[in-house]
Amino acid sequence: MNEDSDGTAAPSADWDALAASFDDEPDHGLRDAGVRRAWAARLRSWLPPRAADVLDLGCGTGSLSLLAAEQGHRVTGVDLSPAMVALARTKLAGRDAVFLTGDAAAPPVGERRFDAVLVRHVLWTLPDPGRILRHWRGLLRPGGRLVLVEGVWGSVAPVGIPADRLTALLDPLAGQARVERLSDDPALWGREVTDERYAVVATYA
Ligand SMILES: C[S@@+](CC[C@H](N)C(=O)[O-])C[C@H]1O[C@@H](n2cnc3c(N)ncnc32)[C@H](O)[C@@H]1O
Repeated sequence: MNEDSDGTAAPSADWDALAASFDDEPDHGLRDAGVRRAWAARLRSWLPPRAADVLDLGCGTGSLSLLAAEQGHRVTGVDLSPAMVALARTKLAGRDAVFLTGDAAAPPVGERRFDAVLVRHVLWTLPDPGRILRHWRGLLRPGGRLVLVEGVWGSVAPVGIPADRLTALLDPLAGQARVERLSDDPALWGREVTDERYAVVATYA
């Protein structure tokens, strides 16, 4: 398995093979009530206050999609892995949500535009993140926002994208970006963590 001890898979991971056990990590499956509550509270503060169209890119098994749908949002999820998409469809059966198999770098959403593009633990794995952020910004309606949850995992051979690099990549897009540190909230991870974990919420006029 192409995965380190934090459950953070390498960019080359076989996501179809990892899908069945993906939700075993506390912050992936959100099965523990406390962890789930912690993510639900953060997501509520990051997403628009009213029912909105949310595009969850690299949605995985749909754990954040489900929280967003429970908060009244209409969700479109996109993932490259058919196995992940199948699990997300099952998880959100009966909800106002659709899931598409496709590349987060160029989501198959045609001319549709969204109030929020939500991406957790995916951007760091994609080549040319600056170009991709420009594309995602173009998927937003006026007043829309990017909600990017990222980090740097591991100590021996750390992987990920530091917050200052991500905010520098966002600078040319001329939005208002706010960084929220997530490392100091063990409720999000189901344990204490010491590495860099954060969210960036960037809003665009
Ligand atoms: C670490 S998981 C995160 C899943 C979900 N965002 C979450 O936080 O629970 C990374 C996900 O990104 C997907 N992925 C990786 N590269 C992708 C790409 N180029 N386009 C779409 N999805 C991709 C994988 O299939 C996997 O489901």
